[in-house]
Amino acid sequence: VSRRWTDSPVATALGIDLPLIGAPLAGGPTTPALVAAVSEAGGLGVLGGGYSAPDRLREEIRAVRELTGRPFGVNLMVPQPYEVDPDAVAAAAELFQPYADELGLSRSPRPDRYAENFEDQLAVVLDEGVPVFGFTFGIPAEPAVRALRDAGTVLMGTATSVAEARALDAAGIDLVYAQGAEAGGHRGSFLAGDAEPGLVGLVALIPQVCDAVDRPVIASGGIMDGRGIAAALMLGASAAALGTAFMRCPEAGTNPAYRAALAAAEDTGTVLTRAFSGKPARGLRNRMTEELAGTELPPFPVTNALTRGLRGRAAELGRSDYLSLWAGQGAPMGRELPAAELVRRLAAETDAALGEVGPRDQP
Ligand SMILES: Cc1cc2nc3c(=O)[nH]c(=O)nc-3n(C[C@H](O)[C@H](O)[C@H](O)COP(=O)(O)O)c2cc1C
Repeated sequence: VSRRWTDSPVATALGIDLPLIGAPLAGGPTTPALVAAVSEAGGLGVLGGGYSAPDRLREEIRAVRELTGRPFGVNLMVPQPYEVDPDAVAAAAELFQPYADELGLSRSPRPDRYAENFEDQLAVVLDEGVPVFGFTFGIPAEPAVRALRDAGTVLMGTATSVAEARALDAAGIDLVYAQGAEAGGHRGSFLAGDAEPGLVGLVALIPQVCDAVDRPVIASGGIMDGRGIAAALMLGASAAALGTAFMRCPEAGTNPAYRAALAAAEDTGTVLTRAFSGKPARGLRNRMTEELAGTELPPFPVTNALTRGLRGRAAELGRSDYLSLWAGQGAPMGRELPAAELVRRLAAETDAALGEVGPRDQP
């Protein structure tokens, strides 16, 4: 073998030592401390900023910069058009009320808006000169892509199918973040359907995306250790992104009830659900996913906003039955380790799996 796995076009493009990415985890887990720790360890930490108000996003970016001088990324959710049907919103609010009652929440006023303003979030990313910008749920409009490129930002877009990868390529996006069906969290799909047959597993997705587009591919979904990283690289990916694997790190903002649920996870324990947000996402099965399975709910981000109070209160009370426990199918392989130690072990395991143990890894 003439080259080590670390000599990767993704590592070169991102200016990092290890082609290993801490996936963006919106909703709290990717704290500035976690993002910085992954970057400091030689990978790329990515802040999941999708739910952060612009001012907060700016603070988080600056907090990362206080902790590391290395490259890092920020990820946002590209808004898709959605309809707000007042009757459906009222019906959904009624549906969630019994759960809120159980948690002792008083009837909360309807949210005055359902999502943060994407343009304003993007303006912060541009203004702060973030090195890497990742996105999901779609592709930003051409002027935004151009502005980011002009600013020297490396762009990383999510694809769950070959058609989505082709769309990213055509839009001039530098890196394709291929998300397999195993992945925890929301499906990034914007052309593929949200359910079968749009659910392509990572082993099938990576080579097809690699064949379809001439861009470096980052694999994500179910990868928890060096075996998974090595497999993704063997299939043609140039880097791996791990989400669930980092959720039990002490630096992560994962709340205690969520951590306990992850520690008890089983391989068959996740489901694809719309219950909390209106958009399919993979998470650990619990009372909410079971009771709301098949229930019609308003689209993302409406339902997401409607359940925010409930989820926040559940986190405070440590009630995992009412939490969105986003997790990938590899959750049982998760380890409770400091992020730097986890990155170190992932790199050593990948070396071992690929039979590439260089001098730098000798004890
Ligand atoms: C809690 C959680 C939040 C996530 N938030 C985002 C997000 O904001 N943006 C995004 O592009 N992907 C998000 N993802 C998906 C990850 O980018 C990645 O595809 C996924 O974690 C990979 O699967 P794994 O968890 O099995 O490693 C999230 C995943 C989880 C588990």
